[in-house]
Amino acid sequence: MLRTHTCGELRSAHLGQMATLAGWVHRRRDHGGLIFIDLRDRYGITQIVFNPEISPAAHTLAESLGNEYVIQVTGAVEHRLPGQENPNLATGAVEMVAQSLKILNAAKTPPFSLNRESEVDENLRLRYRYLDLRRERMQHNLVLRHKVIKFIRNYLDARGFIEIETPILIKSTPEGARDYLVPSRVHAGKFYALPQSPQQLKQLLMVAGMDRYFQIARCFRDEDQRSDRQPEFTQLDMEMSFIEREDILQLTEALFIEMVETVSDKQIKFKPFPRLSYDESMLKYGNDKPDLRFDLPMSDIADLVPATEFTIFKEALAQGGIVRALRAPGMASYSRKQIDELVEFVKAQGGKGLAHLSVAEEGVRGPVAKFFPQGVVQELVQRSEAQPGDLILMMADKAKVVNEAMSRLRVEIGRRLGYLDDHIMAFAWVINQPMVEWNEEEQRWEAVHHPFTAPWDEDIPLLDIDPGKVRAKAYDIVCNGYETGGGSIRIYQRDIQEKVFGLIGLTMEEARAQFGHMLEAFEFGTPPHGGIAPGIDRLVMLLASEPNIREVMAFPKNNNALDLMTNAPSPVSKKQLKELHIKLDE
Ligand code: AMO
Ligand code: AMP
Repeated sequence: MLRTHTCGELRSAHLGQMATLAGWVHRRRDHGGLIFIDLRDRYGITQIVFNPEISPAAHTLAESLGNEYVIQVTGAVEHRLPGQENPNLATGAVEMVAQSLKILNAAKTPPFSLNRESEVDENLRLRYRYLDLRRERMQHNLVLRHKVIKFIRNYLDARGFIEIETPILIKSTPEGARDYLVPSRVHAGKFYALPQSPQQLKQLLMVAGMDRYFQIARCFRDEDQRSDRQPEFTQLDMEMSFIEREDILQLTEALFIEMVETVSDKQIKFKPFPRLSYDESMLKYGNDKPDLRFDLPMSDIADLVPATEFTIFKEALAQGGIVRALRAPGMASYSRKQIDELVEFVKAQGGKGLAHLSVAEEGVRGPVAKFFPQGVVQELVQRSEAQPGDLILMMADKAKVVNEAMSRLRVEIGRRLGYLDDHIMAFAWVINQPMVEWNEEEQRWEAVHHPFTAPWDEDIPLLDIDPGKVRAKAYDIVCNGYETGGGSIRIYQRDIQEKVFGLIGLTMEEARAQFGHMLEAFEFGTPPHGGIAPGIDRLVMLLASEPNIREVMAFPKNNNALDLMTNAPSPVSKKQLKELHIKLDE
């Protein structure tokens, strides 16, 4: 070993001992003859003192040290001078008085500062990710991620789960997102796909009798990037046989609670996690991944509209739209300008406008108040649970527009009121999603979760008559406005699976060509089964209080799906293309 201790290790107990440390020069300060170096490694920082009277050679060499030089220092562990102790540093009571110094490697000046937190352009950070990862915050995030994964492995191992690796080169099947494809050299014109998730393989492992499977699984999806989406990401993928929905919810919930409480000091807001039906979530929060750190539900006020004189609302309803109201606590005091900001906010989300009423003891005020008769106002105030001093915000439009804009407005109101406390994790289950949704563009039904999700038994007859009404045995786990996991009880009978493939627009031939292996497997004794896949990146992001998942991944792509460090994707040679039977159409 090139060191006797790490830079986070020395304490008063080591006083008087000789030690050798190795690490990076975090900071150098020259003080009237003495040179102080903060020496850093993953474990911490230790102060080294170079005194020309103790070791002139080491002191002279220390004069040449720059930030991020890699050095090895040997010296005695001594007390810091009284008053010089640093209580913010674990090693802050002591310092090392250097007797010898060796420069293991010099370093150019880093392109951004590593010894203080400052705003650095993310693309620069990603280009020099190996430097970025030297920063304490990033080291903390990667250690946290390791702890989460280790906790999961131990927890599931103790409960009879086995971790099984599934292939990365698989068959391309339409599962939701776009596949990443890998051309085959051996089979001209044919392609493997990278898995969007191990969904089919884990189900086939249930057919194989594995009973309780999990995997820390890498998934690949060619989608537009967002703060919580990367082209490759990691799931805790799980599947169990001979279980019901309740078993999965209980197991996942217990795992999450124990994990969060073990690896972090976050506060879990609700135990047990509340359960909302998909319909309830859409109605109250305008989306299926509500931020429940604060309440503020929206209310449906469509039935009140006919009794008003507000034509904008009447017209929106006549065109099949919806109307929702949202309470903004204490915001009746908002100025014209502040209200305009809220209007602009919803317009930026696609809304056409936002009507408001200020609630006071004596009634409501506002530009549209004149359209609302007294009886309607009373009902409106009651339904939105508004108090004097509150603002009632209302929007009418097509459901998609209202839900999108109002759900974001709700979070914006929460933000303005200081409700978005990242110390709190408000987990909840959203259950009973619809099985299929009408895709207007492609004029066909598509699976809301994925086509292997089982319909409710009593809804099976509706598959033929009214597919949009069929509820799925599906569940999502959500936290603070993010979908942190999704799963379902699966179809395990061939006839129902074929029916669902038919419903989402596959002909029998297409279904057999794409999913023949699944259909065939279902004829060899498939146990009832189900599972779930929490997204590890999103979970760690929340645990680390980070604003995006790139901060908890060692080497993420940027938001344009580029790896700025290696410059992937990149062109390949003509020879490589030829071997793969590929001609570029440039
Ligand atoms: P689903 O597609 O809902 O389900 O994905 C499960 C969870 O994975 C995370 N996730 C992502 N994280 C980062 N970047 C992405 N691009 C990304 N896409 C998804 C989310 C999400 O909740 N096979 C099914 C699971 C099952 O049915 O068991 C599946 O993949 O946290
Ligand atoms: P206007 O007659 O366009 O000035 O609109 C009157 C009020 O209704 C303004 O406060 C608008 O912001 C609001 N408004 C317009 N369209 C909508 C809508 N679709 N939903 C809610 N309020 C709206």
